[in-house]
Amino acid sequence: MGEVPVAGVVDHHVEGPEVLRGLLHGSEVGAAVGDVALDRQHGVAQAVHKIIKGLDRARGGGHPVAEDQHPGMRAPPATVTRSMTTIGIIGAGQIGSQVARAAITAGYDIVMANSRGPETLGDLVAELGPKARADSAEGAAAAGDFVVVTVPFKAYEEVPVAPLVGKIVIDTNNYYFERDGHIASLDQGLDTVSGLLQRHLPQSRVAKAFNHIKAEDITTDGFPTGSPQRRALATSSDFEEAAELVQRLYDELGFDTVNLGPLADSWRVERDQPAYVVRQTRHELIENLARAERPAA
Ligand SMILES: NC(=O)c1ccc[n+]([C@@H]2O[C@H](COP(=O)([O-])OP(=O)(O)OC[C@H]3O[C@@H](n4cnc5c(N)ncnc54)[C@H](OP(=O)(O)O)[C@@H]3O)[C@@H](O)[C@H]2O)c1
Repeated sequence: MGEVPVAGVVDHHVEGPEVLRGLLHGSEVGAAVGDVALDRQHGVAQAVHKIIKGLDRARGGGHPVAEDQHPGMRAPPATVTRSMTTIGIIGAGQIGSQVARAAITAGYDIVMANSRGPETLGDLVAELGPKARADSAEGAAAAGDFVVVTVPFKAYEEVPVAPLVGKIVIDTNNYYFERDGHIASLDQGLDTVSGLLQRHLPQSRVAKAFNHIKAEDITTDGFPTGSPQRRALATSSDFEEAAELVQRLYDELGFDTVNLGPLADSWRVERDQPAYVVRQTRHELIENLARAERPAA
C-alpha cells in the first residue's frame, strides 16, 4: 500500500471518504467501503463502524450481533475532564501494575486493589511511590474518578457495582476459556467480553482498552503525538465520553486511538483477531479491525 494520509483520520474528524478508501485501497475491505459516505461531521468511530458494516454486508449479511446490546440502558451523565486525576485500578497484576506505572508517569494518582486485600500490595505501592496507595476493590472503585478493571475475566461479576455507578470503567479483560471456564454466550459469539462487564455494571460507562497490548509494552512502546511509528490502540464503548476518556489516556501514555464504535463490535479486537496483541499504527489497526471475522457459532 502506498503513502496514505493517516494524519487525516484524527481524533474526531475524518477528512473524507478518500482517506479511508486510501487506507484500505486494494484490499477486500476496500471494495466493501465503496458506497460509504463520510463527511466532516462524522467521527472516526462512525467511519470505522461504517466500513465494518459495509464489509459485513459485502460478505453476505455479517454476523448476528445486535446493534445495541443494552437497549434502554442509560447511565447517569458522566463528564470527562482533566480534573479526573485519580484512577482506581481493580486488579494489580501484569496489566494493572503496568497501567499504574504509565499513568503515574503521566501525572495520575492511583488506588490499587487485588483480591487478597490491600495489605498484600505493600511492595507494589512502595515501588509506585507517593502517588499510589492500596485499598479494597470497593475502596479503589469509590476513590477513582474513573476505574480500570483488569482481573482474570472469570472474576468480572465480583467487581463491585454500587461504587462504580455513574463512572467510566475501562475494561482490559480478555476471555480465555482455558483460564476462565466456558461462557456460552462468548463461545457462541452472542456477547462480547466488555458487553458482559457493561451488563454487570449497568449504571457505569464501560470502554474497552489495553486488552490487545502486552503488559510490558504499555510502559515501553509509547511515543509522542505525531511520531510516525506511534502505535495505535483500539477502544470501544456505547458512551462517547468513555471512548473520549480512553483516547485522552492513550494519548497521554503515548498511543494513538482508533474508536471502533459500540461494545457490540468490540469482538473485533478480542482474542485471536488480526488486531489482537500486534504492534500496529493507526492505519494498520483500522485495516486489522476491518479484517476481523467472528467465528460461526
Ligand atoms: N498480561 C497481559 O499481557 C494482558 C494483556 C492484555 C489484556 N490482559 C487481560 O487483562 C486482565 C488482567 O490480566 P493480568 O495479566 O494483569 O492478570 P494477572 O497478572 O493474573 O493479575 C490479575 C489481578 O486481578 C486480581 N484479582 C483477581 N480477582 C479479583 C477480584 N475478584 N477483585 C479484585 N482483584 C482481583 C488479582 O489479585 P490477586 O493476585 O490478589 O488474586 C491480580 O492482582 C485479564 O483479563 C487478561 O486476559 C492481559
